[in-house]
Amino acid sequence: MRRPHGVTGRLSAYGTTIFAEMTALAVKHGAVNLAQGFPDFDGPEFLKEAAAGSMRAGHNQYARSHGLPALNRAIAESWKRSSGLSADPDTMVTVTSGCTEALAAAFLGLIEPGDGVILLEPFYDSYHAGVSMAGGVVKAVPLHRGKDGEFRLDPAELRSAVGQRTRAIVVNTPHNPTGKVFTRDELSMIASLCVEHDLLAITDEVYERLTFDAAFPHVHLATLPGMAERTVTLSSLGKTFSVTGWKVGWAIASPELSRGVRAAHQFLTFATSTPFQHSAALAVTPGGPGDGYARQLRADLREARDFLHAALTDLGFGLGRTRGTYFILADHRPVSGRIRAGMTGREFCRWLPEHAGVAAIPASAFYEHKELGEPLVRFAFCKTMETLREGATRLRRSLK
Ligand SMILES: Cc1ncc(COP(=O)(O)O)c(C=O)c1O
Repeated sequence: MRRPHGVTGRLSAYGTTIFAEMTALAVKHGAVNLAQGFPDFDGPEFLKEAAAGSMRAGHNQYARSHGLPALNRAIAESWKRSSGLSADPDTMVTVTSGCTEALAAAFLGLIEPGDGVILLEPFYDSYHAGVSMAGGVVKAVPLHRGKDGEFRLDPAELRSAVGQRTRAIVVNTPHNPTGKVFTRDELSMIASLCVEHDLLAITDEVYERLTFDAAFPHVHLATLPGMAERTVTLSSLGKTFSVTGWKVGWAIASPELSRGVRAAHQFLTFATSTPFQHSAALAVTPGGPGDGYARQLRADLREARDFLHAALTDLGFGLGRTRGTYFILADHRPVSGRIRAGMTGREFCRWLPEHAGVAAIPASAFYEHKELGEPLVRFAFCKTMETLREGATRLRRSLK
């Protein structure tokens, strides 16, 4: 019998993302949206002017498939500055439609059906679906939350997750949703496993410039011994320059691995929006106006983090320390327990918009083993101080 028309088995398990559900609830109840990870302030004027200018100048037709030459060069220069590594802009840099497309292209172009892919959970939700679309098999290894609220990888657990068919590991640093910035020691442990078992590393570094503590600097996995030739480094414009809707991202990898990424990219989107690539080149070029913007955003976000951290701690949430990204992952149980004992993160997040007028995301959305995420909810602080103050006031009113 023919199967009924509709969503394929590969994707039906994923349903609609929790982000859409929580944003819909936030709209319905007029809640302060600390759920979805996008700024409620605009990107910089210079960037918008450059995009509008490139449209007016007639840069409106397809760009070269792997990226506008000026943007590929700017990304390679920026990579040289932050990593010390050289990347040939023509053979090693691929411009994509956001990091999400870069992830999909890396999975589709480099993973064979049946290959194992290790994800560290909690993980950004597109990883699991992306691996599935490529026919890969996910092996989820948890980051354990210590008593101090910090998330750590158990090296023995990671090692035992590597099997005969394991092809790749996905690393996200700075890490959404925990706010963790992986240390050089942690990355070295991952790197030595990759070298020992000949694994690819796909690193998602979209928050690379949003780190807040000098003791936890961002380290590129590709810079560790033996990693440059086996790492696909992904990043994007959206987080650093507050233009998440522009969807300009990129992949940096050896020519060999870049061929895999491009083989998929050419049939996914072929090319990324031309005028936005023109303006992205201006933002990314070292020494250009993007540097000052990124520096200021980081300072503003540090202040926002400190404010929300203090407000949530005062309410009784259990918190670790966000070192990077713009998220705080909080143990809700000391607070939700006052409403009803045993509330799950999902129940608490459905309760919040209606009764507190604030929206958050249940962390179970970032886990394969959902039960591990139930005690946790994620708040985003990429918001104006006014929004955050209003959110904190509402939470205090209903939860204290
Ligand atoms: C870890 C991580 N990777 C990728 C993305 C998506 O990036 P883009 O908008 O460039 O596709 C996000 C967005 O929230 C993210 O948090």
